[in-house]
Amino acid sequence: MRKQIAAANWKMNKSLSEGKDLLAEILNSDLSIGQNQEVIFAVPFPYLMETQSMIGGKSGMFISAQNCHHKTAGAYTGEVSVDMLSSIGIQYCIIGHSERREYFAETNSMLLEKVNLCLAKNITPIFCCGEPLQIRESGTQNEYVAVQLNESLFQLDADQIQKIVIAYEPIWAIGTGKTATAEQAQEMHAHLRNVLSARYGMEIASKISILYGGSVKGNNASELFSQPDVDGGLVGGASLIASEFVQIINALKK
Ligand code: PGA
Repeated sequence: MRKQIAAANWKMNKSLSEGKDLLAEILNSDLSIGQNQEVIFAVPFPYLMETQSMIGGKSGMFISAQNCHHKTAGAYTGEVSVDMLSSIGIQYCIIGHSERREYFAETNSMLLEKVNLCLAKNITPIFCCGEPLQIRESGTQNEYVAVQLNESLFQLDADQIQKIVIAYEPIWAIGTGKTATAEQAQEMHAHLRNVLSARYGMEIASKISILYGGSVKGNNASELFSQPDVDGGLVGGASLIASEFVQIINALKK
């Protein structure tokens, strides 16, 4: 079975001590993490190393960056490169979150550069796609997300694409409390898998984990994750509350 993943996205929240308390509480909880499951914490840059040492190689657990720069090195004050992440042993990086696309003007072609840099350093991109409300209302969401995949991922070869995790996050559901229904999520995830299959074939498409993101909570995770093409979640708000995130981890398909 494909990898089932619960990924926390802390965004720009928590002090270091608050973050460590949160992580410690989760690590000390009654977690059932199976063979095919992973738990990932995307923490702010300054916390990467300390949180990484807290999880200390626990099987199935990883720390992720929330972003990286699309150039390798140089005069980019304030930015963090993929090489830097690699040099501290980071294995995952969120790429193209809708907040980065919207507030920091990240384009599909910039994301393509980031994906390439990550893969060259064995960092797994958690590649985000998803449509804004007006696109959903116009009924063109399927075409919209297909373009996002096409322009940022489809230059990858068959080996590389299998190293990507995709997160479908409808923008209208992020931080709004308005979750996509399990049927809406399944419909889109199946579509994304078909788009992947049209480019790479179903054998490869069926190996790629597609996470759902957008107001995933402890009490809706099981229903969402039980859908055949929903392979876990990318979780913002609810990942900041230990008991909620533990419930979400334990809702992953076995
Ligand atoms: P949310 O955020 O769970 O708070 O809706 C999800 C995300 O933006 O990754």
